[in-house]
Amino acid sequence: MRHLIAPSVLAADFTKLADEIALVNQSEADWFHFDVMDGRFVPNISFGFPILEAVKALATKPIDVHLMILEPEKYIEDFRKAGADVISVHIEACSHLHRTLQQIRATGAKAGIAVNPHTPVSLLEDVLEDTDLVCLMSVNPGFGGQKFIYQTLNKIRKLRAMLDERNLDEVYIEIDGGVGLQNAEIILQAGADVLVAGSSVFKAAKPIETISQLKALSAHKFDNF
Ligand code: DX5
Ligand code: ZN
Repeated sequence: MRHLIAPSVLAADFTKLADEIALVNQSEADWFHFDVMDGRFVPNISFGFPILEAVKALATKPIDVHLMILEPEKYIEDFRKAGADVISVHIEACSHLHRTLQQIRATGAKAGIAVNPHTPVSLLEDVLEDTDLVCLMSVNPGFGGQKFIYQTLNKIRKLRAMLDERNLDEVYIEIDGGVGLQNAEIILQAGADVLVAGSSVFKAAKPIETISQLKALSAHKFDNF
C-alpha cells in the first residue's frame, strides 16, 4: 500500500482559504486533515461546522476530521453531515469507545481512534477490529508547529506488530504532529500509512512540491516486496 499525505488545514492561511484548498486539490495529497479543538479536551479552540462545510464545498479529496473534543459522541452525525469522510475520536475522551466507533461507522464514515503521546497502544488491543484508522499523536494535541516526539516511532512499530498479528492490513496508522521532510521517511519505515503535515506543507516555500516530495519517499516495508 502506498502511503497517504494529509495536509492539515489548521496551518493554512485563512485569509485565502479557497486558494489553500485549491492548492491541496491540485497537489498529490490524498486527504485534507481537519482539526477540531474545543478548548476543553485541549487548551486551544480551532474551528467547527461552518468551516468544515466551506472546505467540503471546495475539496475534491476526502476530509479526515480529528476531533480533539470532550463528548465527541454528541456531534458525530453533525460532523458527517458537514462533510467528514473519516472521523477520529480520542481514546482519552471516550468512556464508551466501542460504541462511539460503531456510531461513526453507522454514518458511513470511516472510524478512527486518536491516541495521545502518553497513552500506550496496548489499550487498543480489543478495539482494533472496530476501527479503520489509528491516529498516533506525535505531539501533545492542541497546536500546530510543535516538535515531533521521537518515542512515537516505538509506538508505530508496536502498533504495526499488533495489526500484523491480527492480519488487519486495512487499518491505517496515521501520524499527526511535527511531521516533515526531515523525519517522514523514518516514520514510514516504522510502519506508518498516513502522514499528517501542517506547518511543513503550508509554511513551505513551495507547498505543492513539498507534498510531492513527501509522497515520493520510500514507503514502509510492504513496498520493498
Ligand atoms: C495538533 C493537530 C495537528 C496539527 C499538526 O493538535 O492535531 O493535526 O495540525 O500540525 P504540524 O504538522 O504543524 O505539527
Ligand atoms: Zn490532527
